[in-house]
Amino acid sequence: MRREHTIADRVTNSSLWRAVVRHGYPDTERNQALIIASNVFLHLHPVKIKRYATKVTYTFCLGGLSFFMFLILVMTGVLLMFYYVPSTTQAYQNMQDIEASVTFGQLMRNMHRYAAHGMVIAVFLHMCRVFYTGSYKPPREFNWVVGVILLFLTFLLSFTGYLLPWDQLAFWAITVGTTMAESAPLLGPKIRFLLVGDNEIGQATLIRFYTLHVIFLPLAAALMMAVHFWRIRKDGGISGPL
Ligand code: HEM
Repeated sequence: MRREHTIADRVTNSSLWRAVVRHGYPDTERNQALIIASNVFLHLHPVKIKRYATKVTYTFCLGGLSFFMFLILVMTGVLLMFYYVPSTTQAYQNMQDIEASVTFGQLMRNMHRYAAHGMVIAVFLHMCRVFYTGSYKPPREFNWVVGVILLFLTFLLSFTGYLLPWDQLAFWAITVGTTMAESAPLLGPKIRFLLVGDNEIGQATLIRFYTLHVIFLPLAAALMMAVHFWRIRKDGGISGPL
């Protein structure tokens, strides 16, 4: 006897539902195996990968390198936090002390700075690769959007970190950056005030940029990266050659 289609059946069979949850209810052994094998948490590595996905020249591992830079930045950043104080009267001296007196301090600071430059370059080149191989096309259009958010977060991390040494370069770079934001139509002055936290760059700006740099932006980036990697698995691994 044929079973009547319930509303729940219709929802779970719709293409929108299937785009998010790829497999049906685990009612048969085959469905159970499919769900476990495709679940990122229950089965971290994919069950199978395509041959071209192992070819270095297809991706140049630029996404992986971006992630590697991010990990270096988190590790060296946490170590720098043991010494850095986000105060306009102490920050610059702190940076000098980290370089001159702290064991491996100069190495940590340089690793943090060069990895930051490296991450911006790697993320940009990764985006170019994705565009060049046409990997933004369905079913990966959502992951492209996640990628654009990651690109913005990377730029914002770089921009907020630039102010923290509180040297002349930092001060004037942020003056230029926030004045550019001010020239945006309509909301420009409000955006500048939101960024600077005052009428001119000072303690309010430093603490704002510091909090964004060490808490909000890294957490947002880590969350978005988790979504990005999960989507790669769900979209059937990385795309094939054109
Ligand atoms: C923090 C930044 C980012 C990280 C850590 C990251 C990481 C990754 C990794 C590890 C891959 C697997 C393939 C590979 O290594 O190339 C990948 C693929 C992908 N990424 Fe990113 N990504 C980032 C930013 C971006 C940006 C800016 C875009 C585009 C605007 C983007 C779009 C994509 C797409 C569409 C794929 C699938 C490519 C394919 O199937 O060939 N990602 N990403």
